[in-house]
Amino acid sequence: MTSTLEPTTTALPPLKLGALAVDPAVVLAPMAGITNPAFRTLCREFGAGLYVCEMITTRALVERNEKTLRMVRATTDEADAFSVQLYGVDPATVGRAVEMLVDEGVAGTRPAHIDLNFGCPVPKVTRKGGGSALPWRRVLFGDIVRSAVRAARDVPVTVKTRIGIDPDHVTYLDAGRIAQDEGAAAITLHGRTADQLYSGTADWSPIARLVESVDIPVLGNGDIWEADDALRMVAETGCAGVVIGRGCLGRPWLFGDLAAAFTGRPERALPTMAEVAAIMHRHATLLAAEHGERHGCADFRKHVAWYLKGFSVGSDVRRALAMVSGLDELAGLLARIPDQPYPVAVLGAPRGRTSPPRPVALPEGWLADRDDPRPPSGAELEVSGG
Ligand SMILES: Cc1cc2nc3c(=O)[nH]c(=O)nc-3n(C[C@H](O)[C@H](O)[C@H](O)COP(=O)(O)O)c2cc1C
Repeated sequence: MTSTLEPTTTALPPLKLGALAVDPAVVLAPMAGITNPAFRTLCREFGAGLYVCEMITTRALVERNEKTLRMVRATTDEADAFSVQLYGVDPATVGRAVEMLVDEGVAGTRPAHIDLNFGCPVPKVTRKGGGSALPWRRVLFGDIVRSAVRAARDVPVTVKTRIGIDPDHVTYLDAGRIAQDEGAAAITLHGRTADQLYSGTADWSPIARLVESVDIPVLGNGDIWEADDALRMVAETGCAGVVIGRGCLGRPWLFGDLAAAFTGRPERALPTMAEVAAIMHRHATLLAAEHGERHGCADFRKHVAWYLKGFSVGSDVRRALAMVSGLDELAGLLARIPDQPYPVAVLGAPRGRTSPPRPVALPEGWLADRDDPRPPSGAELEVSGG
């Protein structure tokens, strides 16, 4: 199941976020609809690091929305490392949500880390001034970070953002400085502007520039498809850790590769089809335990194509897997796929979202006054991650 690629000696020291040591300094990126407890458990089984939960809307949390409360749940192995990403545009609401998590511990678990989402490029979020649109309003941005940091007390708060809205409205350097001044423990930078969505190639040079500009740790994000990309990002940018999103879709074992790479070990996993089938079944079983068999299997369907990318699978089996609704059915279908070596041609290839660029939808007059401290209205309703 493993192959030995180029030997490497790059090691990265553990990332310190307050009292939390992230070792290796590898973080599963928050991904709405993906990084639920089942997926985090699965990824953690392959390697250590930090695994951020799906984005949680602060308004929904303070209103104790039932679905949201179900989403803010630690896995059994996350007692000391539960990591929550929050989305919000109103300093008071964000503060209340953080207070609620830190003081009460939702579902009995207190987070060990809180991340704030200032990177979402989805139009329904930016149109309301949220996500990647927000750092442009630098006073409001600082107020939100300050409110979260105060309410979090000893729990480290980090910020996740993009380069800016578009090439003419770059925000990351101001965001880094403000986040640092307001007490953020680290900042993650995705090397794209919001208008790029997921198109083209991430530009890592702003990550290097941010590393030079702030004293808090900078985590690099964008287009790490293999462990060796992560080593390259660290070497090229000097970042203190890496954040992995799409690269682990259908490849949770990437965290094992990353753990190996950052301790200087050269082995990389190349699971056979039979081994991938076992991991798929494990993933679906974890989802079924969380949501019930029918819903869990329905949720698993979105992962099927990612797991099977590059493998030779009959079209009838692929079709049936895309409609799977039970664990035994899944096992039966997977057994029909002939065992075969890992399709190395897919290594390093992008997976998941690759949406083309699009101008960013913003609220009327959003760009006019960077120092307007007022939260945009109605921006917290019905958002999803990105
Ligand atoms: C399906 C999906 C959902 C995402 N949801 C979130 C989210 O809720 N919060 C967030 O900050 N970023 C979100 N992102 C962005 C990722 O965290 C990450 O920044 C981005 O995918 C770039 O990293 P990558 O090239 O490693 O994928 C999402 C990305 C994807 C593909």
